[in-house]
Amino acid sequence: MKQMLVTGGAGFIGSNFVHHVIDHTDYHVTVLDALTYAGNKSSIESVLGERAAFVQGDICDAVLVDQLIAETDVVVHFAAESHNDNSLNNPRPFLDTNIVGTFTLIEAARRHGTRFHHISTDEVYGDLELNDPERFTESTPYNPSSPYSATKAGSDLLVRAWTRSFGLQATLSNCSNNYGPFQHIEKFIPRQITNILSGIRPKLYGAGNNVRDWIHADDHSSAVLRIVERGEIGQTYLIGADGEKSNLEVLHIILESMGEPVDAFDFVTDRPGHDMRYAIDSTKLRTALDWAPRYTNFEDGIGATIEWYTEHRTWWENDKKSVEDFYRAQGQ
Ligand code: NAD
Ligand code: TYD
Repeated sequence: MKQMLVTGGAGFIGSNFVHHVIDHTDYHVTVLDALTYAGNKSSIESVLGERAAFVQGDICDAVLVDQLIAETDVVVHFAAESHNDNSLNNPRPFLDTNIVGTFTLIEAARRHGTRFHHISTDEVYGDLELNDPERFTESTPYNPSSPYSATKAGSDLLVRAWTRSFGLQATLSNCSNNYGPFQHIEKFIPRQITNILSGIRPKLYGAGNNVRDWIHADDHSSAVLRIVERGEIGQTYLIGADGEKSNLEVLHIILESMGEPVDAFDFVTDRPGHDMRYAIDSTKLRTALDWAPRYTNFEDGIGATIEWYTEHRTWWENDKKSVEDFYRAQGQ
């Protein structure tokens, strides 16, 4: 049985990916995850056993990483500090995990000649104007705005350099904003859903005009698996599902789906350096690797996500107070 190492597999997208791989392939999966505040082992508990194993550890731990990669056919690297607002408040862990952690993994992967797939974000490209007809492509210049996106950009460049200079067997993908089950409630969509479920008014930064290009996490997973199986070494693929919506539009959909008046929310202090718009052109992935998203109706996807948070209160309830205390302290 082929062995896959998934870093960050107890986080939001990593756990969705682990479920996807177990459901659609024969791989044996080992999850390496430090279980930071963002990791939740219960998200993958149901698959641990014959097909999947869990190792609690840090991707900066070179000895552990080397041992695990020595036994692995392919590494899929999701582990990261992932939240922009946290990176503005305390950037240090972003440098450690996103830069040093990625460095530690690719050093081991090149020593063992192991296939490596690096997960990244469209935020490395900076932002677009609202009326810009262009979208991000694989050749858009890097121009990150926040400590989060700057450290993700740095990690991408390390992987590219290791591929060119050391023959690392790597592919990269940069995806747009994900939604779906198992997302930490610090993020926009689950924060608003769990606010409403907790009797707290949703919070919109600035004027709410910022645009994000939403994709369901399961579509991100199918794209990553396609790249792992058929992607060309050294290539970068942008992943997106043509899901552009303003934050205000998304909040209206959530409020309406949950039976609330569409004005039942508060405008709060904007994020410093807040990127205006992200938009992905995923033509390369669709044509070269014949990939297409399955979740094409955003309202249905949001409805299912609301249902998931409603039915899994114990998964998020313990985090709610500390998340809202953090935001309140900065007027958000
Ligand atoms: P997340 O914060 O939900 O999960 C991150 C996981 O990594 C957690 O389980 C955490 O415990 C683990 N982790 C953190 N530091 C670690 C360390 N030093 N060693 C081992 N494990 C560690 O993040 P996410 O939203 O699932 O994002 C996963 C990846 O996808 C990231 O690389 C992110 O940049 C990328 N991405 C995210 C989005 C999005 O919309 N969330 C979009 C595009 C790309
Ligand atoms: P977020 O989920 O943090 O993702 P990212 O910063 O990676 O895009 O935020 C998505 C958008 O929602 C972003 O424009 C910031 C905005 N936002 C709010 O308006 N209110 C909130 O409470 C949060 C957390 C985010």
